[in-house]
Amino acid sequence: MAKSGDFVEYLNQERLSMDSDPPFCQTYKALFDKISENPCNKVVTVEECELPLVDLSRLDLDESEMEECKREIAMASQEWGFFQVINHGISRDILEKLREEQVKVFRQPFDKKSTEEKFATGCYRWGTPSATCLQQLSWSEAFHIPMTEISDSGAFSSLSSAMEQFAITVAGLAQKLAGILAEKLGQKSTFFKENCLPSTCYLRMNRYPPCPFYSGVHGLMPHTDSDFFTILHQDEVGGLQLVKDGKWISVKPNPEALVINIGDLFQAWSNDVYKSVEHRVVTNPTVERFSTAYFFCPSYDTVIQNSEPSVYRKFSFGEFRQQVQEDVQKLGHKVGLSRFLLSHK
Ligand code: OGA
Ligand code: NI
Repeated sequence: MAKSGDFVEYLNQERLSMDSDPPFCQTYKALFDKISENPCNKVVTVEECELPLVDLSRLDLDESEMEECKREIAMASQEWGFFQVINHGISRDILEKLREEQVKVFRQPFDKKSTEEKFATGCYRWGTPSATCLQQLSWSEAFHIPMTEISDSGAFSSLSSAMEQFAITVAGLAQKLAGILAEKLGQKSTFFKENCLPSTCYLRMNRYPPCPFYSGVHGLMPHTDSDFFTILHQDEVGGLQLVKDGKWISVKPNPEALVINIGDLFQAWSNDVYKSVEHRVVTNPTVERFSTAYFFCPSYDTVIQNSEPSVYRKFSFGEFRQQVQEDVQKLGHKVGLSRFLLSHK
């Protein structure tokens, strides 16, 4: 049952405090009112799973270990669209520093985050301005940062340097994974070296505040990522879920691992061999959650095409992004790759 009493309590708290939290309850009160008139707050249990776990240190061992490791990466990308990597080469120190800075920047007053243009170089966003029902609301806030701007975060120079350190090492990991995924398709990895430069990628720092009064609110709406793949560093709280065999399953956090998920561009480039799988984040009633996502993207003019008879028409990354934005504006949601199917009318 929706506990509307708790909502009112939370709403009042939100009004009184000069908080760093975005004003979710005030802004989206109408959506919550709609639900409490007609409550259907079913608790849906979702099975927890361990994603395929790939130990990247085997890439430096003998030929057969290396080949086995590459095979596992390609298999997971086909069957799950998701996997985890350990011994990935990004030190704990780099990850911890970035997280520390991330927490600090989210602790700034909400007014500051939302009104200062280019605050901490990021494009700050929160909630879902276009939501017309509760299912469409994302109960989270984020800084979406083009890699070209990370060295320019104004008063936040320690944030800049943490992001820069992370960016340098994560770019190496991304190229390594892209090379393996290309090789397993019988393609050359030069495509990624030429088109996905450190400067064409994005960093997104997410924070998911607790949502104490209504379970089933999304921290992040179900979506696929619009890139080649994403490298995610999450904390121990959990909440990430993905679709496997038509069912939602939740990812058990592994503090040693980074989560890799295939995005739309790799699905198109591989002609549907690798899968860009729908995923979402569910909120936690008591604890906040942090995650950092690195989006491995090409330049806007990069053309995504496949040498085999492809199910997709060729398109540039710029065109893809523009179409996604247009659909979100006009329809309220992303249509994504299916728009680019040759069979699409
Ligand atoms: C994303 C995303 C998952 C998470 O930012 O696109 O899917 O766990 N994030 O934060
Ligand atoms: Ni995502």
